[in-house]
Formats: sequence, C-alpha cells, structure tokens
Amino acid sequence: MTVPRTAPRISRYLTSADLAESLARDVRQGLDHTPKSIPPKYFYDARGSELFEEITELEEYYPTRTEESILATYAAEITKLADADTLVELGSGSSTKTRLLLDGMREIGRLARYIPVDVSESALRGAIESLHVDYPGMAMHGVIADFERHLELLPQEGTRLVAFLGGTIGNLAPAQRARFLTALRSGLRPQERLLLGTDLVKDPGRLVRAYDDASGVTAEFNRNVLRVVNHALHADFDPEAFEHVALWNAEQEWIEMRLRSSRAQRVRVADLDLNVTFEVGEELRTEISAKFREERVREELRAAGLSLEAWWTDPAGDFALSLSAPI
Ligand code: SAH
Ligand code: AVI
Repeated sequence: MTVPRTAPRISRYLTSADLAESLARDVRQGLDHTPKSIPPKYFYDARGSELFEEITELEEYYPTRTEESILATYAAEITKLADADTLVELGSGSSTKTRLLLDGMREIGRLARYIPVDVSESALRGAIESLHVDYPGMAMHGVIADFERHLELLPQEGTRLVAFLGGTIGNLAPAQRARFLTALRSGLRPQERLLLGTDLVKDPGRLVRAYDDASGVTAEFNRNVLRVVNHALHADFDPEAFEHVALWNAEQEWIEMRLRSSRAQRVRVADLDLNVTFEVGEELRTEISAKFREERVREELRAAGLSLEAWWTDPAGDFALSLSAPI
C-alpha cells in the first residue's frame, strides 16, 4: 500500500528585503563601534550553509558527530519523554541529525509533522526535499524566519517538541539568549518541551582546533560573511585581506571568531554611504560560540521559566542535550 504524500509547504516570515534591512542596521551599528563586529546569523547564505556542512565533516569539529551519537543512543528515550506529534526545529540547517528524532517519533507512532525553521532558504529547501522522499505521510511546513524575531508566528498545530540543536544557542550573547529563551517559553503550552543542544566547556586546545581547522574551511566560512556584506550592501571588502582568528575567552567561556585586517585599509559600504577604516591588525568579531556547564544551562532555562527535566551527554562529556518543560 502506498502512503499518501502531502506536499511540503514553505512560509516566509523573513523576506530578502527584511534580511537586507536588518543586515544594513547591524552592519552600520557593528562597524561604527570599537571593537567592530558583525552578528553570526549573516554567515548563512547558500555558500555559508555549504561551508558549515563541510565544517561538520572536519576531524577537528567534534560537536556535530558527538551530538549525533547522543541522539543515536537516546532518541527513543527523548521522543518517549516528549510525547509530541510535531517536531519544530530552530536553525535546522540540513536537518541531518533530525532524522534520528523523526525516526524515534515514527517508532512510537506519533510522527505527524515536521516544521524546520531557518534563515537560510537554500538549506531549508534542500532539507525538505530530501526528507520528503524518506518520510512519506509526514506533513512538512518549512518556515524561513529569524528565530530571534519570529517565534510568535510559528505554526501551532499539534503537540510540539521544539528542538534547537548543534549548540547554536551558544552563538547568542547571554542577554540575547535570555530574551530568546523567554520568548520561546512564552509560546510553549504546558505539555510541550524544548530539546536543547549545548556544547560543553573542555580543553581550550581542542576547542580552538575545532574553530581553526588545519584545512582552512572554518577560515573560509568566517570570511564568507564579508562576501555576504559585499553582495547585499554593495561593499568592497577584500576577504583575502583578513586573517581568520579563533581564540578561547576563558573568562566568558566562549570561543570568539574574528577577522584580523592584515593591512591598513578602507572599506566602502555603498548602500550605507559608509567608509570604514581598519588599522593593520585591527579585528572584527564575527561570532561567539559559548560553551556550557550543566548548572549554567539549568539556571538560564530556569530564569526563562523552563525546568530542566533530563540531561544526556556522550561518555566523554563533550556535548549535552537537555529536555525542559515550561514551569
Ligand atoms: N541545526 C543544524 C545547523 C546548525 S548551523 C546542526 O546542528 O547541524 C546554524 C543554523 O542556524 C544555520 O542553518 C543558520 O542558517 C541558522 N540560523 C542562524 N541564525 C538564525 C536565526 N537568527 N534565525 C533562524 N535561523 C538561524
Ligand atoms: C552553528 N554553530 C553552533 C556553529 C558553532 O560551532 O558555533 C557555527 C560554527 N562556527 C565555526 N564553526 C562552526
């Protein structure tokens, strides 16, 4: 018997014009400050999403395969505890690890729909196409949105498990995380759950290698943000004139990625009528990637009105998944 296939839907809450507008605002603000910065959500044009996928395959980049191994071991337990029929995934990217959760839900006969949410249209479309083939009968509703701005617009159908995997929460600064978690909590019904992936504090040498790989893929990913700005705002950054930097900030317990200007230079951002000067050695911060301890995760969740119900790690304690419920 053939299972009926429901055509996937895609909703767009973030238009290219919106994205360009928020990029313009963030670039103007970030380049006008000392030290200069650009938020990490702009890495992910089609090329950036591809480069991220390459990063996940690198020997040095342990988070993806470690989180995948935790899911492989505990997906059945996670999906049973969550008892949801709808999986909403924030920052879903290629949705590769997600399959383990979908399989868990399918095995207990609860899988009704999957709602991937991402700023990257190319990643979202690619994920939906490949899942559509392998999960006939599962409804899919992809949403192109910014999870910092559009949470209240997310589809409400079913009983939802909201997954936020990969450690992407660590790319938000502490105050942003607090706002994000509070907004997420306010949209959850009492029986709904949050599954959160967090990378854990570990040996700084391993951390730095994970963000400064020998083959230079992360350096390319980092420089790609300059290409995004060039394209969207008609700027003339020369990406090759910036050196990739990854360092461990021990006080904040986060990795910082920066781009260091290898010469004194002036960059024109035509759409903003802005000229920006860089001194030789001056750095532009492009990403933080916070690393957590269990207590910090528990406290941040609690402060947002969520109670940590379960915590799973790999045997080495490199990465964690937590399940939390509205208080
Ligand atoms: N969850 C996947 C992908 C992680 S990469 C994994 O674990 O491998 C981070 C993903 O989040 C990218 O696909 C990026 O496009 C998306 N993203 C980053 N900032 C976002 C935002 N503000 N709103 C929605 N998606 C975002
Ligand atoms: C998406 N995010 C969790 C990645 C991270 O590890 O912080 C992005 C990344 N940056 C460099 N490498 C990977």
